[in-house]
Amino acid sequence: MAEEAVLGHLEKNEEISDSGKFAEEKGISHDEIVNVIKSLNGFRLVDAQDIKRERWGLTKEGEMYAESGSPETQLFLAIPLEGITREELQKKLDSSIFKIGCQQAIKNKWIEMGKSHVSRKVQHVDDRVRDLLMQIQNGEAVNAEDVDALKKRKLITPLIWKGYSVKKGPKYAPKRKKVATDLTRENLLRESEWEGVPFYLFRMYAFLYIKMWLLLIYDGFVGFCSFWNFDALFQPQQHPARDSHDTFFLKEPSTTKILPEDYVERVKGVHESGGYGSRGYGYEWKREEANKNLLRTHTTAVSTRMLYALAQDFAPKKYYSIDRVFRNEAVDRTHLAEFHQIEGLICDRGLTLGHLIGVLEDFFSRLGMSKLKFKPAYNPYTEPSMEIFSYHEGLGKWVEIGNSGMFRPEMLLPMGLPEDVQVIAWGLSLERPTMILYGIDNIRDLFGHKVDLGLIKRNPLCRLGL
Ligand code: PHE
Repeated sequence: MAEEAVLGHLEKNEEISDSGKFAEEKGISHDEIVNVIKSLNGFRLVDAQDIKRERWGLTKEGEMYAESGSPETQLFLAIPLEGITREELQKKLDSSIFKIGCQQAIKNKWIEMGKSHVSRKVQHVDDRVRDLLMQIQNGEAVNAEDVDALKKRKLITPLIWKGYSVKKGPKYAPKRKKVATDLTRENLLRESEWEGVPFYLFRMYAFLYIKMWLLLIYDGFVGFCSFWNFDALFQPQQHPARDSHDTFFLKEPSTTKILPEDYVERVKGVHESGGYGSRGYGYEWKREEANKNLLRTHTTAVSTRMLYALAQDFAPKKYYSIDRVFRNEAVDRTHLAEFHQIEGLICDRGLTLGHLIGVLEDFFSRLGMSKLKFKPAYNPYTEPSMEIFSYHEGLGKWVEIGNSGMFRPEMLLPMGLPEDVQVIAWGLSLERPTMILYGIDNIRDLFGHKVDLGLIKRNPLCRLGL
């Protein structure tokens, strides 16, 4: 239905300028429209451009006040006409409501605060703060000055909304032709690109492909819930990467409930209120978010599980993985929704950023990339973090080839690792340096059912980026 709506609209109109408004008009969920757009864009039936909008959302505190009124109003209403002693007023209210309420009500000149007596200075007050919060909650516009004041009080926070604008693409058709998607031996053999390929090669490829999927499904089902992919990595639950527009969540089974409970408690604590020298994020951590199953978005989910296991009986170790990861991205010549990541980590006492730089220089020089630059970056789980750039002679410019850092104490200490252990780690996509090294400009030549078998035959190791 969503697909018909999108294609049907483009048949009669130039464009869909905003997928959000379009979804609303059609009464279809925005997620559904986005998925269709991504898929149509992948097959080039449409041309989709990202649009992002910042809007304001309520913080937890903001939500509370939207529901029960601002602290200053609650405080005002708790003062009877004849006034009240400070002590008694304090008893009537929550301590934080009392504290904030006093500050604001005095500022607003609503109350008179004597040494021990509190009285009203005005007869009636309007709860403007609550009205504004409710307007924001309903997506209504609020003037800049009010936004500023609410922001200062940490009652609102920016939320990023993502959608698309869509035009007809080069392969546009009012209806999509149904393509055979079942992976059967017959229809694989029928595909023209298999002609002339020795049968053993085809078999090897198909076999590896299927085996990889079986392993993945197994792994995904038993292991990868949001907890290992995000929470254990000190990635807050509101982080935009945890949005279904960026991450594939599983429908069936949709949750995992078996997690190491004492560790989960420590992770919850460090998100909510910190510890181990950290202030935490100060929000209410929800177990339901952590339980959501997903297709892992990075191999760091694997590293995290390994590190947790290592923490139970620590000894210095190195880990290395090459595995498939998934991101809900618009598919184009250089991006697929699934790709491979390579990840390495070293856990030992006394490691520094200097060690990380040395290891990276050694690692990449063995792949033929010896001119490296490092740029400070941000990951929720590493501090410091560095993006890795390599100079590409052919392209004549610096290109990003990976990301790295030292895992934060907020991630390592709740696992139970000794306090003096550091972990240096780096991750990169397998496809990206391979494309750069071999001058491949379309990722489908490297990965997927249209893989250029000529390329593989010429150099079988190129699929490994070696
Ligand atoms: N997980 C990061 C990514 O997906 C890579 C990374 C791994 C960064 C380890 C730092 C440490 O880009």
